[in-house]
Amino acid sequence: MLAEHVAEARTGLGPVNVRPEPDELAEELELSRWIADGGMDAAALEEWLPRYLDATVRLHHPGSMAHQVAVPSTGAAVADLIHGATNNPMAIYEMGAAGATIERQVVRWMLDKVGFGSGAAGVLTSGGSLANLTALLAARAHVAPDAWRAGTPSDLALLAPPSAHYSVRRAAAILGLGEDAVLELEVDELERIRPERLEDAVERCAAAGRRPLALVALACATSTGLYDDLRAIGSFCREHGIWLHVDAAHGASALLSERHRGLLDGIELGDSVVWDAHKLLRTSGLCAAVLTRRGADLHGAFRQSGDYLFNDNESVGFDLLDRALETTKTTMGLKVFLSLAWAGERGLGEYVASRFDTARRFHDLLSREPDVTCAYVPESNIVCFRIGDGDQLELRERALDGGRLHFGSTTVNGERNLRLVVTAPDTGDATLRELLQVLRGLLEPAVARAG
Ligand SMILES: Cc1ncc(COP(=O)(O)O)c(C=O)c1O
Repeated sequence: MLAEHVAEARTGLGPVNVRPEPDELAEELELSRWIADGGMDAAALEEWLPRYLDATVRLHHPGSMAHQVAVPSTGAAVADLIHGATNNPMAIYEMGAAGATIERQVVRWMLDKVGFGSGAAGVLTSGGSLANLTALLAARAHVAPDAWRAGTPSDLALLAPPSAHYSVRRAAAILGLGEDAVLELEVDELERIRPERLEDAVERCAAAGRRPLALVALACATSTGLYDDLRAIGSFCREHGIWLHVDAAHGASALLSERHRGLLDGIELGDSVVWDAHKLLRTSGLCAAVLTRRGADLHGAFRQSGDYLFNDNESVGFDLLDRALETTKTTMGLKVFLSLAWAGERGLGEYVASRFDTARRFHDLLSREPDVTCAYVPESNIVCFRIGDGDQLELRERALDGGRLHFGSTTVNGERNLRLVVTAPDTGDATLRELLQVLRGLLEPAVARAG
């Protein structure tokens, strides 16, 4: 049934998304009855599941372009089923040798792709937000080794562009720095860090009586999908002894494409890197990597010892409790591994390249339309544009009502844009034609009214 659901979504014939009232949906799915009475057997599940699937977002549908959520590969989906049946919380080796060994191998593969040397380390964790927090904890341990015991020193600052994902500011608050300790880096009109203004940022930091905890660069930015100049920023950070954290949650997967890997040139200068597999490596959530160039930095992130799980006994294998926030951790490595085992590294690279190319083609086609403005040429699979002069948010809301297309919006250079994230393998020219037709259909009455 699931395979049929996916195959049907891929044809693009049905809706992408439906938005029922939650109370009506709860009724339709008979939630209260099943919770109270139980007894769902295979036959009942077969009858119930289609109703559940009807109310899901069909990520495999070509019209699904709203969010940076992976379209799971068959391999990754099978991994979820295997984990669901075996449930090995493998952060402790003796609780899941296979899952732990696979994670170690997958992390080594990622470290190698990033270009970190043999002394590097990494761990898979529950999402990019947690990965950012973990990387900044490692940075704190590096800059203020006593902070775990004595608390975060009050003179630290986090240097980050305003375009950084909100989880970066959230991490600053959780770390006890407070949001006020986030010092904004100067960016250009497309929200990319201006490397030539970094010197000034460091001076501002010193003038405020603070020292940098870390400097955050984006590869790529959430809203625009544009990459910061990692080489220039990395060289600056090296020169000034500043920890560089590269948030490559979305864009690191371009490392698998020969033609696109140059976008991440200089990533190996980072002290820490975050890479979400559940964005472009086609795994379901949650699955993100935090990688550090010096392994000891990651081991220093969580400085605990002495209870029943942290013991120094010499036993077979290795534990990951000193690197990750989770105690119970799912077998995330299995998802990446089976996604790779299905498509191969080259296959996944071709998938990423094709989605980036399609986004670029969408831009080129959109730019030819008389009433469309594209503020920039896409570098990844994210395309932003404005159509007509009207309220783009309202336009989006009305376009979503049709259920055939799902896309988002963001601000670029202070202006509200429509935003497409080209992720489904079947999203192509026909999708864009349909999108333009729907948007024009909604714009025309407004034009007529204005006339
Ligand atoms: C650049 C960047 N960093 C971090 C995150 C947060 O990742 P997650 O949703 O896996 O927590 C996102 C999510 O969109 C992102 O785009």
